[in-house]
Amino acid sequence: MTNIGLRPDSVLRETAPRRKGLATRRKVGNIGKMARVICIANQKGGVGKTTTAINLSASLAVSEKRTLLIDCDPQANATSGVGIDQSTVDRTLYHGMLGQVGAASLIMDSPIASLKVIPANVELIGFEVEMMSSPDRDRSLKNLIADLDGSFEYIILDCPPSLSLLTVNALTAADSLLIPLQCEFYALEGLGQLLRTVERIRRSLNPELKIAGILLTMFDKRTNLSYQVAEEAEKYFKDLVFKTLVPRNIRLSEAPSFGKPILLYDATSTGARSYIELAQEITQTEGDACNEVT
Ligand SMILES: Nc1ncnc2c1ncn2[C@@H]1O[C@H](COP(=O)(O)OP(=O)(O)O)[C@@H](O)[C@H]1O
Ligand SMILES: [Mg+2]
Repeated sequence: MTNIGLRPDSVLRETAPRRKGLATRRKVGNIGKMARVICIANQKGGVGKTTTAINLSASLAVSEKRTLLIDCDPQANATSGVGIDQSTVDRTLYHGMLGQVGAASLIMDSPIASLKVIPANVELIGFEVEMMSSPDRDRSLKNLIADLDGSFEYIILDCPPSLSLLTVNALTAADSLLIPLQCEFYALEGLGQLLRTVERIRRSLNPELKIAGILLTMFDKRTNLSYQVAEEAEKYFKDLVFKTLVPRNIRLSEAPSFGKPILLYDATSTGARSYIELAQEITQTEGDACNEVT
């Protein structure tokens, strides 16, 4: 298995235990509710970030949590995956992050009533270049979502496959980071770099950033490799690894082409069940965390 060059003690030092790790949330509205902002990142492509962003958001939404999915990737797969045609949206996250429009005016409906979306399209590539010399460039997303106080219980950020300025913005705006790990060769490779970025962001932009957890995706119980990746992840990350495993499931890969979360495409599939379970695991953690702060 890959040596990822991690120094587990130092990397995880700031990481609260699973049951406490998500206690930091911003206070929103005047009802004392906290919105939880979860960033889904891994600089590797194809590990299940977007699939997780869409289906975790949908699962939270059907469990009666007001949820906002923000597509932070110029490839805009999360946008199209919830049935929004990116070529027809004229105002996207790009305009919000440049400060041209407020977040509320960017919010669009999805096929699930309680799930809203801030879409992206390819224009978002320009953000990096245009904000290059702006001193506030790392905080554009944080500033944008500050407008949304009280409107949502969960905000899920789908990141591009890089550690670019867009990902830095997402990590700066988030309370916690969920890292999908594909059960494949070299799964853990590059994680050291991601976690060093987390440490850097904690030191400068977002001291409260937690690790929400490591999510094993595309788990195939017929292969030894999947078990090896799971074992390796547990060795490094211990109880930060979510109990929920997302299986390799063809229905999950079919759903985006119908512009639907898996719950609307095939609610009985193993993929759908796994994301419902993940949402439960996450909301239960919140329940515990709430007890602590009250
Ligand atoms: N659990 C899964 N089972 C089968 N296919 C999956 C699963 N998760 C993701 N995929 C497919 O793998 C590809 C990459 O997933 P995606 O979520 O787009 O990754 P990322 O956003 O990290 O690039 C997509 O074609 C997606 O449909
Ligand atoms: Mg993606």
